[in-house]
Amino acid sequence: TIYYGTIIHSVSIEQVDIIQNGVLVVDATGIIVHVERDVADIKEFLDKQPYRDVEIHSLGAEQFLMPGFVDTHAHAPQYMFAGSGMDCQLLDWLEKYVFPCESAFESTDHALEAYQKVVARFLSNGTTTCSWFATIHLEACKKLVDIVHQLGQRAFVGKVNMDQNAPEFYIESTQSSLKDTRAFIEYVQSKETTLITPVVTPRFAITCSSALMNGLSQLAKEYRVPIQTHLCENHDEIDFTCELFKSKDYTSVYDNHHLLNERSYMAHCVHMSDEEIDLLAQRKTGVAHCANSNFSLHSGVCDVRRFLAKGIKVGLGTDVAGGFSPSMLDAIRSTFFASKTQKIIHRDNGKNNDYVPLKTNELLFLATLGGAQVLGLQDQIGNFEKGKSFDALWVDLEGGSIDLMGGESMDQKLEKFLFNGNDQNLKHVYVQGGKVSSRK
Ligand code: GUN
Ligand code: FE
Repeated sequence: TIYYGTIIHSVSIEQVDIIQNGVLVVDATGIIVHVERDVADIKEFLDKQPYRDVEIHSLGAEQFLMPGFVDTHAHAPQYMFAGSGMDCQLLDWLEKYVFPCESAFESTDHALEAYQKVVARFLSNGTTTCSWFATIHLEACKKLVDIVHQLGQRAFVGKVNMDQNAPEFYIESTQSSLKDTRAFIEYVQSKETTLITPVVTPRFAITCSSALMNGLSQLAKEYRVPIQTHLCENHDEIDFTCELFKSKDYTSVYDNHHLLNERSYMAHCVHMSDEEIDLLAQRKTGVAHCANSNFSLHSGVCDVRRFLAKGIKVGLGTDVAGGFSPSMLDAIRSTFFASKTQKIIHRDNGKNNDYVPLKTNELLFLATLGGAQVLGLQDQIGNFEKGKSFDALWVDLEGGSIDLMGGESMDQKLEKFLFNGNDQNLKHVYVQGGKVSSRK
């Protein structure tokens, strides 16, 4: 298949490459085998190529291709109450809304219905790769995997683990938690797909005993799978964690249980000492920045620049339903606001008036290639380099929520899409060359 038109992708955090009259050749397995720029005449170009019997998709003047979004942190069951219940802070919110909601996923029928909705919604919003937290229930977790597979999303899926400090209606024993996690990993690994990866998912230190965390890091090592969890989201959470584990800080708790490595990634990381950030850098652990959630649960304002300055991998997460929106466009906008708020904080504290908020090119990077790096998928997705999978969005600036005034540059059009666009600006969404969603 050949796509011909404007192609936009991040090459690095600094650089967005805008390819005019570009040609992308995608083979039958969904891999990009050729990228060409400035092709004035597609027929002439094809005459000089070995490709025969190809399907040619030409993009319109107000359309472009960009990489699919990578959501590095979302809770599939919590989509049930997304957009509601944000009247308290993290620990009360978990008790009042999250645990009751998640405990209902003991029913696989309930899981089936809810998971169909959330995965379809994420795909129609252009999230081609998502790192999911499910619930503690093995059977419902398998259902999420089946639905992700059916609907064609690329995903990391985690069975949540919690064996302490949780209500009696939503808790597991250490042994059953480890046993079910092993069974879950084996279930995913035995499935005929390369798109889905099991991820070891201790909810957070508060709900996991030392024995459980040690067992989970062992499992991750044994099966060579990544690890995801929450870190330093909220002051009360941090204080309780340090008290529980008699630790000087939160990050060391995970490190002491061997949960920090180059395949791990931590959601939030709002309140971190320089020492803790250095430890993440040393362990090559990534960060999922969840700005909407950090505002909605008034957890705090994360300064992403501190991580970037240390070379730490950073991606964006919607954190549905701590974050109320399933859309990565919203994650980009929330990240923009968090970064502008950091600018205000720096200025008003008289600390540093030279603080530079994240720019559009950096926001695009974090939502695509940055997320791919966090998940260790940078050789497979995140941009349109030859050899990568065609995980893409066919963006149409017309037909959605954007009004063009005429005369905008391509940079401006990209910016308008990121700030004014919606799901109706996505004509098609592709994962590994296959169409997984189209605008209604
Ligand atoms: N920390 C532990 N569990 C959760 C959760 O479900 N959402 C958020 N935002 N933080 C958490
Ligand atoms: Fe979360």
